[in-house]
Amino acid sequence: MAQKTTISVIKCDVGSLAGHHTVPNPLLKIGEKRLARAQEKGLINSHYVFHAGDDLELLMVHDQGEDNSEIHKLAWETFKEAAERASKLKLYGAGQDILKTAFSGNIRGMGPGVAEMEIEERKSDPLIVFAADKTEPGAFNYPMFRIFADPTNTAGLVIDPNLTGGFRFEVLDVIANQKVVLKCPEEMYELIALIGTPGRYVVSHVWRARDDVISAATSTTRLSLIAGKYVGKDDPVSVVRAQHGLPALGEVLAPFMHSYFVEGWMRGSHWGPLMPVGLKDSRCTAFDGPPRIVALGFQVANGEIAADDDGRPMISDLFDDPAFDLARREAMEIASTLRRMGEFEPARLGAEAMEYTTLPKVLEKLKDRFESTEIEVETPELSRVKANR
Ligand code: F6R
Ligand code: MG
Ligand code: MG
Repeated sequence: MAQKTTISVIKCDVGSLAGHHTVPNPLLKIGEKRLARAQEKGLINSHYVFHAGDDLELLMVHDQGEDNSEIHKLAWETFKEAAERASKLKLYGAGQDILKTAFSGNIRGMGPGVAEMEIEERKSDPLIVFAADKTEPGAFNYPMFRIFADPTNTAGLVIDPNLTGGFRFEVLDVIANQKVVLKCPEEMYELIALIGTPGRYVVSHVWRARDDVISAATSTTRLSLIAGKYVGKDDPVSVVRAQHGLPALGEVLAPFMHSYFVEGWMRGSHWGPLMPVGLKDSRCTAFDGPPRIVALGFQVANGEIAADDDGRPMISDLFDDPAFDLARREAMEIASTLRRMGEFEPARLGAEAMEYTTLPKVLEKLKDRFESTEIEVETPELSRVKANR
């Protein structure tokens, strides 16, 4: 029986230095101190603390399984302490994603984002953790599709008999709170029909179809739906497994050779190009962005992150590589083109998405100043607008 190991990535915006662009050292240190203590006590076996823009990210490897209350509590207490420190330092947006106060066993639905995966360790298990800032969980739909379903991205889907059976995708409807599982390649068109709307349909899990081996898990929190008002985007995290009958590391990273558009960026209200960056560039600056993504590669071995001779987890900062210079250059070219359009769509998100921002408050002021125009043709759309007046 193979060893079962859980990879948990739990993240939270607890406050940022100078706006919403980065997590300063004192907060990262709180993460490090708390997780090191939990490791000493044996609750977790390994950890790595980092940040994606203004989000504090806790990577924990342990034997406690998914949705474990002790693991979630550890993350919750860590975020609370970091948020308190952020408050004392008067950092910006202190405690931003801590939407609820009383912890009752599971951090899901309380503000922080969670991606967890329990695996049966293979002979060798390469993993990749993705963390993005200034965007939302649906931002992973496009790369998930390309990695696990698109034969033009993943050569293994064509060449390797272990992959030709395809993958099953679990898709969450985050508005209606429903989920559906679709199998690729057979249901590829239906999958795209859904996940091409990333603001509503989000890929939450991927399994290899022939044996249900878990291959990817993504966070799916929608802060605005929890809070019932605009509280920023949900800056997602994801865990992906690679190699030996799963997409190779290079196939997992290939979708990021080019930039692509995601919702988020300034005030969670704009289309922006996702820019792959190394950890040193994981700071959202220009127009609060552009939305950025980091990728960490590591091995899980005997319940831990494989460590070096000094016991430090060996983490490869995958986008800190000239191979992604082209994508970064593209991202900045697209970013500057979009910014020339200011607040005109499609630079700004469509009206439906803007419902979840602060724009309706501004429009509210004009409500009483509208007068009927002379020629009114009674269309179904007009009746709807009138009914909402
Ligand atoms: C987006 C984000 C930022 C803020 C923006 C305004 O997720 O966090 O772009 O929306 O900096 O922030 P406030 O309203 O706090 O000044
Ligand atoms: Mg913030
Ligand atoms: Mg953020």
